[in-house]
Amino acid sequence: MRHEGFTLWFTGLSGAGKSTLSERVHARLRASGAKVELLDGDIVRTHLSKGLGFSKEDRDTNIRRIGFVCELLSRNAVIAIAAAISPYRAAREEVRSCIRNFVEVYVHCPVEVLAERDVKGLYKKALAGEIAQFTGVSDPYEPPLNPEITIDSSRETVEESVEKVWSKLEEMGLIRSDRPAHAYPRV
Ligand code: ADX
Repeated sequence: MRHEGFTLWFTGLSGAGKSTLSERVHARLRASGAKVELLDGDIVRTHLSKGLGFSKEDRDTNIRRIGFVCELLSRNAVIAIAAAISPYRAAREEVRSCIRNFVEVYVHCPVEVLAERDVKGLYKKALAGEIAQFTGVSDPYEPPLNPEITIDSSRETVEESVEKVWSKLEEMGLIRSDRPAHAYPRV
């Protein structure tokens, strides 16, 4: 497979499916022979952003750091995938403005559904007031106005969502499958 350097940026509430989806897209790209790296907020916060909290300032710093690495990678023909809540539109737009090929994926899921699923048990705690500034409960989330891709994880299967991302990347000319000519029927 041939590909450009680009950044695929997943944004959305905690538990919406950013990590799952980004891991699946990452695995498919790797399996196709692409050069690709994944930066997940939860993991980045254990080293590159260790010590940062969840104030607006700290979240913006986290996003700028992830964006900085994505820019370095994608400028060197590597595919960078970011998965972070990235709740503030201005910070996402700032990152977008620094990266030539920037593809924003809004992973939407109604907060009621997330609170119901509550995979990490965080919504219950946030609703009980045990976690301050929890995105979607007691802290803002500003959805993208013009994302390249929108996923509704309450209505789509992971496979459908991966397919949607893949098709869009092909449509944008960022990835191209390099099938040998004999793989196509002669007409
Ligand atoms: S971001 O806002 O800076 O983009 P990031 O994606 O790195 O956030 O980290 C979000 C993860 O941190 C969540 O999935 C959750 O596991 C955890 N977390 C802990 N406290 C909070 C909080 N107050 N708001 C949102 N997520 C939190």
